[in-house]
Amino acid sequence: MRAASVSDYRELARRRLPNIFFEYIDGGSYAEVTLKRNVADLEAIALRQRVMRDMSKLDMSVQTLGQTLKMPVGLAPVGMAGMYASRGEVQAARAAAAAGVPFCLSTVGVCSIEEVAATGTPPWFQLYMLKDRGYMRELLARAKAQACPVLVFTVDLPLPGSRYRDVRSGFTGGSALQAMLTQARDGIGHPGWTWDLFMRGRPHTLGTVQGAVKEGRRVTDFLAWISKNFDRSVTWKDIDWVREQWDGPIVVKGVLDAEDARDAVKAGAQGLVVSNHGGRQLDGVRSSIAALPRIADAVGGDLEIYMDGGVRSGLDVLKALALGAKACFVGRAWAWALGAGGQPMVARMLDTLRSELAVAMILTGCANVRDAGRDLLDLP
Ligand SMILES: Cc1cc2nc3c(=O)[nH]c(=O)nc-3n(C[C@H](O)[C@H](O)[C@H](O)COP(=O)(O)O)c2cc1C
Repeated sequence: MRAASVSDYRELARRRLPNIFFEYIDGGSYAEVTLKRNVADLEAIALRQRVMRDMSKLDMSVQTLGQTLKMPVGLAPVGMAGMYASRGEVQAARAAAAAGVPFCLSTVGVCSIEEVAATGTPPWFQLYMLKDRGYMRELLARAKAQACPVLVFTVDLPLPGSRYRDVRSGFTGGSALQAMLTQARDGIGHPGWTWDLFMRGRPHTLGTVQGAVKEGRRVTDFLAWISKNFDRSVTWKDIDWVREQWDGPIVVKGVLDAEDARDAVKAGAQGLVVSNHGGRQLDGVRSSIAALPRIADAVGGDLEIYMDGGVRSGLDVLKALALGAKACFVGRAWAWALGAGGQPMVARMLDTLRSELAVAMILTGCANVRDAGRDLLDLP
């Protein structure tokens, strides 16, 4: 199948990846109510079609936090991408750089900050608040040394939400022996993936946090370590501590409430991501797109507002911009594309988003993404 849409990359990833990784990417927490809402609420928004306006020149570029993005899209931090394709974070970062959009590296990436920065374009770096502040200080110093332009500080994961699919697939919860057997069976059933990962993709560790987990052998050992190290005591005051270690822009990721957005402004953040972690944390909360307008109304002029969750097309991107986002991040869309076929597929997926955004702009009469507002929507 030749992929035409984001859902096609999902299908190709389903075929190529071992079940445990496909389910890890695809799933959400608990009954997946929020995961479905993220997509359904975006789908339900109607664009307002306008015709016969000179649309010969389109401007999709946005300036944000000292950078120019060629289109208002970025690759959200996604853990373990180097298990979906060999050195997956590097492949995705290259595709993002070629498209002129940011790649945000997860704390739990297979490739380290240094390995991704060696592509020539330092990534945005995503960090969780860890109990071991000494280690956090070290990570921040490493990100700074690699000239990462933005710190994305994820605040909606004081502990991981339960993802039933990961238990059922054998990804979490089983014994080491069961995990090994599942991996061996999966490997045999997915020779293309196995060849790619084992011939070109080693080591299978979490590069950035590797130093902290001396006894770690498998990615799940590292994930277990990080799960124990999430700090639940964290408050807005801790941003002051982060600020002492990091003098660049800070983007708080995982805000869904206007009150929290105001606190993010008070804490001195330069940006926030309206996000529910792609429906992977507190199930039952509202979708990101439903949360966006209130947050934009509350703090729109005070910091950069980004949004992620459920974005599956360029049409979705324009809807989010119309409701107050400066840019959107995509998570599963790029993880599926990477799993489907590495860097070339991520590049194609970004190209698909660009073409879809162009059509949406032309037929809503929006020549410049910076002018996108609620008038582009057919609101009830
Ligand atoms: C497989 C997977 C792993 C993720 N890992 C991280 C992570 O390490 N750090 C983080 O801040 N968010 C993580 N997220 C959340 C994404 O950054 C983003 O918020 C979410 O995927 C957006 O929703 P979407 O997948 O519908 O685009 C992950 C999401 C997925 C699907």
